[in-house]
Amino acid sequence: SDYTKPALEDLIRTIPDYPKQGIQFRDVTTLIADPVGLRTAIDGLLWPFLKQNVDVVVGIEARGFILGGAVAHELGRGFVPIRKKGKLPGKTIGQDYTLEYGVDTIEIHADAIAPGQRVLLIDDLIATGGTADAGLELLRRSQASVVGAAFIVDLPDLGGSKKLRDKGVLVHSLLSYAGD
Ligand code: PRP
Ligand code: MG
Repeated sequence: SDYTKPALEDLIRTIPDYPKQGIQFRDVTTLIADPVGLRTAIDGLLWPFLKQNVDVVVGIEARGFILGGAVAHELGRGFVPIRKKGKLPGKTIGQDYTLEYGVDTIEIHADAIAPGQRVLLIDDLIATGGTADAGLELLRRSQASVVGAAFIVDLPDLGGSKKLRDKGVLVHSLLSYAGD
């Protein structure tokens, strides 16, 4: 075959000055729109955890739903969402986290994770780590055993992946953009 598998980095679109001046937005919608890109990304996210006895995959709204759902399906496990405040219908636990301006809250259903369940956390990207860290706090309060956290993109200069690793979390990412 003369087919060449596309590189993940070539499928991610960089949009300058979005959502504000000076930010290089790493847009994974072009990656997940590509059939080979999506499959390659899902395989890349999950392979370190194939022998880790993951019980459930947790994904963070919004792009963590797309990726986490596919990872859960591929592992033969269920999927649990972490959503922005007010979106989950049942009893929830919530965690505030800091954004560049102000704070936001994410929530998980209080009964979604059984104590001791082995959880893999998925999102598309880690920057400051505020979002993932809040997700991990929800998992801690759910008495989950966190197997690791996986992202397509790491922006290491923003310190999130180091922050998580310093807390003992296994952080797995497929691409790293330094110098942003
Ligand atoms: C983006 C991205 C991660 C988060 C990473 O989500 O999808 O979830 O930011 O940033 P951090 O490591 O500094 O917390 P965003 O808040 O834009 O929301 P969305 O996924 O719902 O679009
Ligand atoms: Mg997000």
